[in-house]
Amino acid sequence: PPPGWVSIGRVGPTESLSLTFALRQQNLQQLQKLVQDVSDPGSPRYGKYLSLEDVAALVRPSTLTLSTVQKWLLAAGVQDCQTVITEDFLTCQMTVQQAEQLLPGAEFHRYVGRLGGGRVVRSPRPYSLPGALAAHVDFVGGLHRFPRASSLQQRPGPKLDLEESLSLHMGVTPAVIRERYNLTAQDVGSGSPNNSQACAQFLEQYFHDADLEEFMKLFGKSFPHKNSVSRVVGQQGHGRAGLEASLDVQYLMSAGANISTWVYSSPGDSGAGCFSGPKGHLFRPSFPASSPYVTTVGGTSFRNPFMVTEEIVDYISGGGFSNIFPRPQYQDEAVSHFLGSSTHLPPSSYYNASGRAYPDVAALSDGYWVVSNHVPIPWVSGTSASTPVFGGLLSLVNEQRLLNGRPPLGFLNPRLYSMQGRGLFDVTQGCHEACLDEEVQGQGFCSKPGWDPVTGWGTPNYPALLKALLDP
Ligand SMILES: *[C@@H]1O[C@H](CO)[C@@H](O)[C@H](O)[C@H]1NC(C)=O
Ligand SMILES: *[C@@H]1O[C@H](CO)[C@@H](O)[C@H](O)[C@H]1NC(C)=O
Ligand SMILES: *[C@@H]1O[C@H](CO)[C@@H](O)[C@H](O)[C@H]1NC(C)=O
Ligand SMILES: *[C@@H]1O[C@H](CO)[C@@H](O)[C@H](O)[C@H]1NC(C)=O
Repeated sequence: PPPGWVSIGRVGPTESLSLTFALRQQNLQQLQKLVQDVSDPGSPRYGKYLSLEDVAALVRPSTLTLSTVQKWLLAAGVQDCQTVITEDFLTCQMTVQQAEQLLPGAEFHRYVGRLGGGRVVRSPRPYSLPGALAAHVDFVGGLHRFPRASSLQQRPGPKLDLEESLSLHMGVTPAVIRERYNLTAQDVGSGSPNNSQACAQFLEQYFHDADLEEFMKLFGKSFPHKNSVSRVVGQQGHGRAGLEASLDVQYLMSAGANISTWVYSSPGDSGAGCFSGPKGHLFRPSFPASSPYVTTVGGTSFRNPFMVTEEIVDYISGGGFSNIFPRPQYQDEAVSHFLGSSTHLPPSSYYNASGRAYPDVAALSDGYWVVSNHVPIPWVSGTSASTPVFGGLLSLVNEQRLLNGRPPLGFLNPRLYSMQGRGLFDVTQGCHEACLDEEVQGQGFCSKPGWDPVTGWGTPNYPALLKALLDP
């Protein structure tokens, strides 16, 4: 198990368990081409999105696949399954005994997160499937991958030099974000019926309505906003509020201010973490940040933590290269240029230069104020703070696009890379902290002019970003 998770023993054979079977989809090459076309401003299909039903018609597993998997599950007595519209993911409830019979090798243990990360049931051993299913099942979910522990931390506040000028702020608040990224009080949602934004909370880490209200009372005076989320999908529990869930909702709703916001809640995401293996040190890329279909946001801090200044790399910013996904074509030029022109790269055995490189953009990740369990908490830091801020700004861009009769942005990366940094403040100073050993001397990748795997293309300058993304 990853650091922070401890086994408290095997789970009893009659206890119930939920596993997800990923069934082999069809027409993936066609789907890939469609994704490329609807995301490419140069294509006549740009913004002409498929409905979920159209996607289902394209990728739905074959009837042979559906019936083979169903027969196999029924033979083991597994009947309580739920599917999705695309029918490619089947989630089934079963006993531990049934699961261990279906998947020879698997052995289910209960793990607890040491840092209040909840409880999960996982198998420390590999599992197998009958050969007859090889052509029909891609993988089974719920055995190996552990949920990401929150990367947020409260750092000690920097020392304040009282001799400095009076134009100081005491940490990052919505007003500071809006000032830095050039948002005026008019840059808010105007009520477009088809615009909405969403974030997700995991591991019994909930946000509280009362915290959001308190946060907006304290920090929302200078811009129109909503005081509550429009809809919670899934279960919103009654436990203590989680810091990460609180931050996501509070900053999504103050960057993407006055836009209808949904929260997806699921009672059960880190940069190029360091991984010490038998072959020495390697950067361990993270999922979903390393997916080529996700816009990944790196972290920055102010050069002077008490002033709205230019941004530099926050040393905790994640970034690197995927070992799974090859480099997508949209970033080919940017990544080749970075690798070809950098003078201080980490040793090449530490990363896979052929993989998808990330992040794509960045935003502040240091020194946030968050209200959690009725208490305003200062100096909260972590790259997970950057994401809701960048996401909220894209919701504001979508609002303007919808008002102008344009489709929403959809998958941003092909367009983002073709803009070559237009609409963004380039971050050019600082390195992220990586595997600490003599060889790399505590340094991971470093930012430089243009794209880099620390801050991507940079942080948003809203009016310029809007201009670059409004048409077509
Ligand atoms: C945005 O902010 C930057 C830095 O604070 C400033 O130089 C610039 O003039 C502002 N406005 C626009 C439209 O870029
Ligand atoms: C905020 O959104 C509401 C609709 O949800 C809309 O009626 C109102 O005009 C918006 N406020 C501003 C300042 O645009
Ligand atoms: C909202 O979306 C629906 C479905 O695509 C469309 O029929 C409707 O015209 C849209 N409304 C506005 C105001 O754009
Ligand atoms: C490097 O990345 C590629 C995908 O781009 C992958 O196929 C390959 O297995 C990776 N190599 C290692 C050593 O992980």
